[in-house]
Amino acid sequence: MKTIAPLTQRASWKSLEVHFEKIREVHLRDWFGQDPARGRVFGVEALGMYLDYSKNRIDQETLKHLFALADESGLRSAIEAMFRGDAINITENRAVLHTALRAPRDARVEVAGRNVIPDVYEVLDRMGGFCDRIRSGQWKGHAGKPIVNIINIGIGGSDLGPVMAYEALKSYSDRSLKFLFVSNVDGTDFAEAVEGLDPAETLFIVASKTFTTQETMTNAQTAKDWLLQGLGAGQEAVAKHFVAVSTNATKVSEFGIDTANMFGFWDWVGGRYSMDSAIGLSTMIAIGPANFHEMLTGFRQMDEHFRTAPWESNIPVLMALLGIWYNNFFQAASIAVLPYDQYLKRFPAYLQQLTMESNGKRVTLSGSYVDYDTGAVYWGEPGTNGQHSFYQLIHQGTRLIPCDFIAFCHSLNPVGRHHDLLMANVFAQAEALAFGKTLTEVRSEGTAEWLAPHREFDGNRPSNVLLLERLTPASLGKLVALYEHIVFAQGVIWNLDSFDQWGVELGKVLAQRIVPELESPEPLELRHDSSTNALIERYRATRKKG
Ligand code: F6P
Repeated sequence: MKTIAPLTQRASWKSLEVHFEKIREVHLRDWFGQDPARGRVFGVEALGMYLDYSKNRIDQETLKHLFALADESGLRSAIEAMFRGDAINITENRAVLHTALRAPRDARVEVAGRNVIPDVYEVLDRMGGFCDRIRSGQWKGHAGKPIVNIINIGIGGSDLGPVMAYEALKSYSDRSLKFLFVSNVDGTDFAEAVEGLDPAETLFIVASKTFTTQETMTNAQTAKDWLLQGLGAGQEAVAKHFVAVSTNATKVSEFGIDTANMFGFWDWVGGRYSMDSAIGLSTMIAIGPANFHEMLTGFRQMDEHFRTAPWESNIPVLMALLGIWYNNFFQAASIAVLPYDQYLKRFPAYLQQLTMESNGKRVTLSGSYVDYDTGAVYWGEPGTNGQHSFYQLIHQGTRLIPCDFIAFCHSLNPVGRHHDLLMANVFAQAEALAFGKTLTEVRSEGTAEWLAPHREFDGNRPSNVLLLERLTPASLGKLVALYEHIVFAQGVIWNLDSFDQWGVELGKVLAQRIVPELESPEPLELRHDSSTNALIERYRATRKKG
């Protein structure tokens, strides 16, 4: 196998450093001035998705060096290794095969010599049957009533994907059913979710890959108590009101859920890459199996595009490389994702886990510390709300924040002029960020000299605009797979294990240690640092006072 040099020693990296010095001050106004066709040249269309990346601080030479970086980093063979099922999650010795979740029925993908595709479809088919029974009212609760409330209990990847997808595809959902999502260990989350609900009409989906996560198991137990108390029934009622999505059959049956009502997935599906596995059960109940399969088709099309398109027309690769360009050369620490569609309001929150739990790492695959920045902070809000909140900083602040604008040509709710107004804002924001408004222009409007600098927009603030036809299950699948592959490509270049998450462990362990210290009725000797001790003592004293 060819050895790959550490990132900052790669020839392409060094070329990028030299090139960066040459172009770092060039303004987008100049790039556009020099090339009137730029707006079309730096645009790419695939799968009904158009990416305008012309408002980035790049020229053809930048792209040439970035593509060389992708090659030198072994991106092509890394993609093949992932799709093939190699154990690329090295710290957990696991394959990374979320792409197998949406492979065609007749595909063959092997893990340890076993073709996993029949397993994937066995679960999908069982999910389909279950969804049909819930949606048709054939599935009855313990008291004989059909289910109308579906509550997904899960956290992280077992929550963010389901909530995001439900919100995104609400327009395709069965409106006679109510969907709620409980994730936080804060009892308020559960209490507010079940407020006013009839337990006899309520189904809980306990979604947890491990079935050991403190938050989820606590909420699941509270849900069980609420249900049995509300129904005045015994344990036998659980089977009609609880189903599980997990990889851990033993823990599922220990909890009292019949494993006949368990929908499995596998250790080769990472939590944050699982919304298209059985973790998407609530999504499938909401939108129906046919729409769910449409979504999987969208994922699959993006997988094929990522795997086969040349770098110049490969949307995930282009966006991944642009992200690296800003992160590592312009030192931009964050990326704003700005969907101009209200249905995508949870998309930035979903991306936070996908991107930051994946690439928020400082150790390379060979165990050495990096000497470059890795995962950017992803954040955002749907447009136009963000414009009246944090866009000030993006336009005139001291930090460079590259933006991904996401928009659709057709609205799912074509009300009056709303959609044209919405889209005018997307185009205007990208334009304003790139070109700004010079001091000369400000002065020419008669603005007082002292005020002019406040009203100047320096511009040269980069953005991508992703334009799709309309928000459908398939386009959502494409969008999610797009960002999954951006994360993957960046992880390969940064030489990280994008599929583990050791950084969440320490806090979990310490919390487990503190719980008995908060609950103990007896005075006890605390052995933490003085700050933690003082906080615990104050909490105990305040609780004692009532
Ligand atoms: O936050 C850590 C994490 O392990 C995530 O990666 C995962 O999505 C989440 O917890 C939930 O885990 P589980 O599905 O096992 O309950």
